[in-house]
Amino acid sequence: MEVVILEDAHQVAVAGAEAIAQHVIDTPTSVIGLATGSSPLGVYRELAARVQAGSLSFAGCTAFLLDEYVGLGPGHPQAYRTVIDREFTDHVDIDGAHVCGLDGLAEDIPTMCEAYEEAIAQAGGIDVQLLGVGTDGHIAFNEPGSSFASRTRIKNLTGQTRRDNARFFDGDLTAVPQHCLTQGIGTILEARHLVLVALGVGKAEAVRELIEGPVSALWPATALQLHRHVTVIIDEAAASDLKLADYYRECYASKPAWQRF
Ligand code: GLP
Repeated sequence: MEVVILEDAHQVAVAGAEAIAQHVIDTPTSVIGLATGSSPLGVYRELAARVQAGSLSFAGCTAFLLDEYVGLGPGHPQAYRTVIDREFTDHVDIDGAHVCGLDGLAEDIPTMCEAYEEAIAQAGGIDVQLLGVGTDGHIAFNEPGSSFASRTRIKNLTGQTRRDNARFFDGDLTAVPQHCLTQGIGTILEARHLVLVALGVGKAEAVRELIEGPVSALWPATALQLHRHVTVIIDEAAASDLKLADYYRECYASKPAWQRF
């Protein structure tokens, strides 16, 4: 796991975008995993700026979303498919038909989830997966207690996640769905490169557990310690609880020029 500690949200966004762009430039047909939440928004803005400047193209790429709320359809402003289109795909040259999300209105959820796994496999697997982390350590919507072998499925959101996300629903907790659909931890661990971004002191505890804590279902993000290619890009505030922060800074400062994310 590479830990990159940067001064502020802008630097995190630029580095996160670079980590994704490296794949797309190397392999224009890359399969990208897209995350929602506020943390990746800067990364999306930087990627869109590169596309608009003509230095990057997603035209050959396929994308898969990480998760979705149950009960919110494509027209709902907080459905993750709507959010991803609004914040990212509408601003880049990816073919909308190649952006795949989970169906929050599916009548047969297990069959839809199986088909989603199959679609990821058919696409050749995910080359680079962007991730955030919840304050309770969730990745995608894999809440504490999720199996590290889990696949795409329905989950219950914790009270903490619903309270955290109520800000996207005008502060109305009752409007936040109780159920969600999410790629499993096992699904996420199969992506070839995981790029996680986290910002702010509110994420410091989750970031500490993710990087330095014991691997535990209590903190689902600790599963990333089991993956061979993870880049964690965080600001100073999110890094404030790390024991080995100075070591991570030294490693990044002295990183060989040939070594990429
Ligand atoms: C949401 C999403 C996650 C995201 C997390 C953190 O619940 N399902 O994919 O990583 O919360 O969100 P934020 O970046 O807004 O703190």
